[in-house]
Amino acid sequence: MTVILDGKSLRDKILNELKTRLEKFDKKPTLVVILAGDNPASKIYVNNKKKTAEKIGINSIIINYPANVSEKELLEKINELNNDKNVTAILVQLPLPEHINKNRIIDAILPEKDVDGFTPQNFGRLFGGEEPYVYPCTPRGIIRLLDEYKIPLEGQHAVIVGRSNIVGKPLSQMLLNRNATVTICHSHTKNLADITKTADILISAVGGKIIGKNMLKPNCVVVDVGIFKDENGKTRGDVDFADAAPLTSYISPVPGGVGPMTIAMLMSNTVELFEKNGL
Ligand code: GUN
Repeated sequence: MTVILDGKSLRDKILNELKTRLEKFDKKPTLVVILAGDNPASKIYVNNKKKTAEKIGINSIIINYPANVSEKELLEKINELNNDKNVTAILVQLPLPEHINKNRIIDAILPEKDVDGFTPQNFGRLFGGEEPYVYPCTPRGIIRLLDEYKIPLEGQHAVIVGRSNIVGKPLSQMLLNRNATVTICHSHTKNLADITKTADILISAVGGKIIGKNMLKPNCVVVDVGIFKDENGKTRGDVDFADAAPLTSYISPVPGGVGPMTIAMLMSNTVELFEKNGL
């Protein structure tokens, strides 16, 4: 029997807990989101983050720049936010416009306010086996979702498709920390299906429909991180759900799986940074 990994109801439970946790403080955390350009998906994500934050008692400010903003202007703003006592969390929405050096922008965020866990200090701590201030939101959400359903990780072969800094790379380390055996596949991987068929847990974070049942081991766990609109405007993930689901033991849907978990973990990270640094 296949169980659906329900990210929406777990998100709601987590948000309720966070709301209660914040009620005992006189002050509120402040999450500042920097958005540069007019990527339509980013706009939706950012507005969603703000709406969710305000529902649970987090101040949220979106700073919107035109696509032709200069690197200097962004760096000056980050510097100002780093020095502003009232700002407890900073997020720079990715992707940034092409002419901006993404790493230079991320590197400028104070690690104690880096709510994505993307700065070199936080990333380096994760890869060096130390605690970062916070863990990146999407990988953290994936692991939280697997834990909720008591899916064992230790000794399991986790195959990640996608090697991004946002998902694939940090997730690999977090799964290693939990004693999984981890393989990362990507666009240059040969014989992808031969590898995915050995996965006890398959996590796909690519953004294109690539995973069907012919690539899966029977009774495996499938986590779908991909999200895009197909030619009919329908929201889809990397996995052909109807084809793959009957073969799996657990599978996350799109929408309603990893997406809501990412938001929940962003809120959780915001609260944690506030508790650690913002009092
Ligand atoms: N763009 C897509 N996912 C993310 C994320 O988790 N954080 C940021 N900052 N940008 C993103």
